[in-house]
Amino acid sequence: MTQIPLPELALVALVGASSSGKSTFAAQHFGPSEVLSSDHFRALVSGSEHTLDANAAAFDSLFYVAAKRLERGLLTVIDATSVRPDDRRRLVDLARAHDVLPVAIVLDLPRGVLEARHEARGDRPFNAAVIGRQQTELRRTLRGMGKEGFRHVWTLRTSEDVEAAQVTRVP
Ligand code: CTP
Ligand code: MG
Repeated sequence: MTQIPLPELALVALVGASSSGKSTFAAQHFGPSEVLSSDHFRALVSGSEHTLDANAAAFDSLFYVAAKRLERGLLTVIDATSVRPDDRRRLVDLARAHDVLPVAIVLDLPRGVLEARHEARGDRPFNAAVIGRQQTELRRTLRGMGKEGFRHVWTLRTSEDVEAAQVTRVP
C-alpha cells in the first residue's frame, strides 16, 4: 500500500493521462477548495470544459489563484494532465517562488484501463489515441521528475494501488 505523507504546505501535482482518475482521486483525498482543476478553469473562462483555445486563459487564471493560495500558506492541488515536462516546470517554478514543496502523485495506469474508462465516459470529445499519446509522453519523462524539482514523486500503477493509497498530512 502506498503511503503519501504530504507536508502541510505543499503544491501537489496530480499527474496522469485523461481518464487516469485524477479528479476522482482529488475528490476522495482533498477538500473542494484545495483542488484547482484545469477543466474547471477552462469552463470558468470560456463557458465549457472543452474549449481548447481557452487553455492559455484557463491556466493563467489557475496559476493566479494557486499563487494567492500559496501566499496564504494553503496546500494546493493541481488537477491537470501535466504529462509534459514544460507543463510541470511551471508548477515547480510556482512552488519555488512561494517557498513551498512541489510534490507529485502520478497515476500511470495500464493503457487498457484508460481506454475502457474513456469509452464509458462520453464527456471527453476526443479520440482514445490522445490518451495513448499522453501516456507515452508521461512514461518517457516520468523518471526525470525528481530532477525537474519535485521533492517526492509517488507513482500509482494499478487501480488497486490507487484505491489503497493513503494520503496523510505531516506537520
Ligand atoms: N473512474 C473509475 N474508477 C476509478 C477512478 C475513475 O471508474 N477508480 C472513472 C470515473 O468515474 C470517470 C473516469 O474513470 O468516469 C475518469 O476518471 P476521472 O477522475 O475523471 O479522470 P481524470 O484523470 O480526471 O480525467 P481527465 O483528465 O479527462 O479530467
Ligand atoms: Mg479530471
